[in-house]
Amino acid sequence: MKKKELDWEKLGFDYREIDKRYVANYSDGKWENGTLSSKSDIVINESAGVLQYCQQVFEGLKAFTTKDGSIVTFRPDLNAERMMDSAEVLQIPPFPKEKFLEAVDLVVEANAEWVPPYGTGAALYLRPFIFASKPVISIEPAEGYQFRLFGTPVGPYFKGGVNPLTLCVSEYDRAAPRGTGNIKAGLNYAMSLRAHIEAHENGFDENMYLDAETRTFVEETGGANFIFVTKDKEIVTPKSETILPSITKRSILYIAENRLGLKVSERPVKFEELEEFAECGVCGTAAVISPVGKVVNEDKEITFPSGMEEMGEVTKKLYDTLTQIQLGDIEAPEGWIR
Ligand code: COI
Repeated sequence: MKKKELDWEKLGFDYREIDKRYVANYSDGKWENGTLSSKSDIVINESAGVLQYCQQVFEGLKAFTTKDGSIVTFRPDLNAERMMDSAEVLQIPPFPKEKFLEAVDLVVEANAEWVPPYGTGAALYLRPFIFASKPVISIEPAEGYQFRLFGTPVGPYFKGGVNPLTLCVSEYDRAAPRGTGNIKAGLNYAMSLRAHIEAHENGFDENMYLDAETRTFVEETGGANFIFVTKDKEIVTPKSETILPSITKRSILYIAENRLGLKVSERPVKFEELEEFAECGVCGTAAVISPVGKVVNEDKEITFPSGMEEMGEVTKKLYDTLTQIQLGDIEAPEGWIR
């Protein structure tokens, strides 16, 4: 398959318009059949629910070119399911799973030249989203919605590639108890922008959020979940009702247990426990697994024994196994690759 002439290895995590996207509308109580479109612009009413009250949910997944030139996506069924869960919370009509998978296939196929070649480290990032397209002015769910799925070729999410990140503990909270922190909605990311910019201004790569109720437990970064490795090589990841249930994290836990024979535990993790861990990483579709070297909280600075130079040994094994599965280099667990 012919590919576009791009400097694939140099791609960052930026939007680049590509040829086709999938569009489907919801009106009169049902989702219509979607179609591919060449138009990246959207015209909506000034009072559309998304513009007034942020009624929007989204997903993120990736398509890869394998060594033999096939194109695959990684666990899109889980994105479809999570989007239905997110939609329910924001009173958005759920987009059916079969239609979601059809949209993924159509967009990937129509943009095959934009799916980065094997061995470049890049991927076609797919962004499905649903937004309230019809006007509202009182606070109520809109009567019309649009589902869209576009793609954009991306490289690493963090500019330093696989160099360990330095995080600061945010003084702001990301999600309220019994709120919307566990769904993938634009509103959760808009509210993190101030903390994000302040962290960057202070020389940090990202924020670590603590739980809003007690500010004792580690939550997530806002864009990715945490994994920690103990000195005995056990994988520990925060359990919380207010973080996004990351598909990458669920995959890592499975790989750790079933492929690498490691013990895994999903449990509340206290910030004060961090000093006992050997390695730390953040994981997500965009972040893949990015190592964390240091976390700073006011006057406390924790540098993980894996250091600031390279990925920790266990983190690296997880990263290698996950990316080899995604690229079809090694056998994937049943149903993971489409
Ligand atoms: C993803 O990992 O797909 C996300 O949506 C996170 C976002 C920060 C890019």
